[in-house]
Amino acid sequence: ERKSGERVFDLNLRHGVSRFFEGIETPTIGINQSYLGPTLELNAGDTVRMNVTSDLPETATVHWHGFHLPARADGGPHQPIGPGGSWTARFDVRQRASMFWYHSHAHRRSGPQVYQGLAGMIYVRDNASEALDLPNDYGVDDIPLIVQDRAFASDGSFIYSTRMHNVMMGMMGDTMLVNGVVEPVFEARSDRLRLRLVNGSNARFYRFGFDDGRSFHQIGTDGGFLAAPLPTDNVVLAPGERAQVIVDVSDGRPVSLLADGLEIMGMGNMGRGMRGSGRMRESDGPMGNWMMGERGGRDGMMGERERRDGMMGGMMDERRQFTVLDIRPAEGRTKAIVMPRRLATLPRIDPGDAVRTRRFVLDMGMGMRMMRGGGFTINGKSMDMQRIDETVRVNTTEIWQVENASMMAHPFHIHDVQFRILDRNGRAPDAAEQGLKDTVVVYPGETVRLLLRFEDYTDADLPYMYHCHILEHEDAGMMGQFTVT
Ligand code: C2O
Ligand code: CU
Ligand code: CU
Repeated sequence: ERKSGERVFDLNLRHGVSRFFEGIETPTIGINQSYLGPTLELNAGDTVRMNVTSDLPETATVHWHGFHLPARADGGPHQPIGPGGSWTARFDVRQRASMFWYHSHAHRRSGPQVYQGLAGMIYVRDNASEALDLPNDYGVDDIPLIVQDRAFASDGSFIYSTRMHNVMMGMMGDTMLVNGVVEPVFEARSDRLRLRLVNGSNARFYRFGFDDGRSFHQIGTDGGFLAAPLPTDNVVLAPGERAQVIVDVSDGRPVSLLADGLEIMGMGNMGRGMRGSGRMRESDGPMGNWMMGERGGRDGMMGERERRDGMMGGMMDERRQFTVLDIRPAEGRTKAIVMPRRLATLPRIDPGDAVRTRRFVLDMGMGMRMMRGGGFTINGKSMDMQRIDETVRVNTTEIWQVENASMMAHPFHIHDVQFRILDRNGRAPDAAEQGLKDTVVVYPGETVRLLLRFEDYTDADLPYMYHCHILEHEDAGMMGQFTVT
């Protein structure tokens, strides 16, 4: 039985220097450390106070992605923290057990700030999840994995480019950082591992799977457990999306978790049918010292020239394959693992509850319009801090119909709520998407209908955001604001 209570976290945003490669220094941003921040462990029912201070030379924010909370605590662009400034967010944890993340949401600066490291993981536990027979020992058999591709210049600094190509495709890199580590190796001491995957990349979509093709169970989506474990051999995550999986390593054989970068321009290989079914840990570096880049040499680094040529080539990066985690299990014990039959009771889903439908059309104006800015739009409008786009009533259910009129897939994210996917082009979502979601990929030409319920918190002035979670698209204006009144 977990006790809820008041949790106070002191988070300090700062510049740092990271050594992703031996003997090479990379200027980064971190929270209480040099890159990324501590994992915040919360229990449902906790009251949380986040004291955020900033030593950054530019305005930043810290947004609690996936949380249901008052707009003033959301950490979006309306809660800026200036250089030397501070901000306190208070909220109650009204989430189901899952993992969430926190990251910069600074106006037009989310992309570069997250890229440099302004992000971290949040675990939420509740009594129901504690009662399940699942790996639950943080860093031992319950492993957070923040997956981020990065590009490095030959001097070791990150390459973050706002050239048109990088804004259009989003910023991608050729080197995988997992919890801020290059080529991590994990020595397993148990028969099964729970992996909590966060796609914390700015723009890249991945299909995760194991190098030997072994099947595993997906147990959770963005905001909670699935109703029952889902056997599968792959999980697709766009930026902002999360998944929890259980993998059996009882055969004792080394295995690697791989991530295939997916093409997001046009339907590519993303088309339907191609898709598969409050403690702080700050003392021991990003996400604990159980990980280290063993080979972490320069192999991951590409020469600047080679990179430049690649960039010129246009689509260079999209379909790259990465190793996320090399797992070295303990000796084989061949004790077959048993999964719980049921995981959670999901809220009922009845489109008849909706009082109205709102349409959101995602688009990218091409050519001159995009070059002048203002090409990334929702319902023809580019983000305007002064404009409230939608006003919803508290204690109502709505359908949000999201349409993609552009040639690229966009992960559509909505603050404050965990929603359900009703259908894609009229068809029921895959089993992997039938849980609680706060981010949903909308493929080119697709219409996705979401069912959302707005509860508890109202604020006539301060809005929440909805936006594309390709951070360069968000920064370029593919974002809107809604209030709950
Ligand atoms: Cu993960 Cu509005 O953001
Ligand atoms: Cu969010
Ligand atoms: Cu987008």
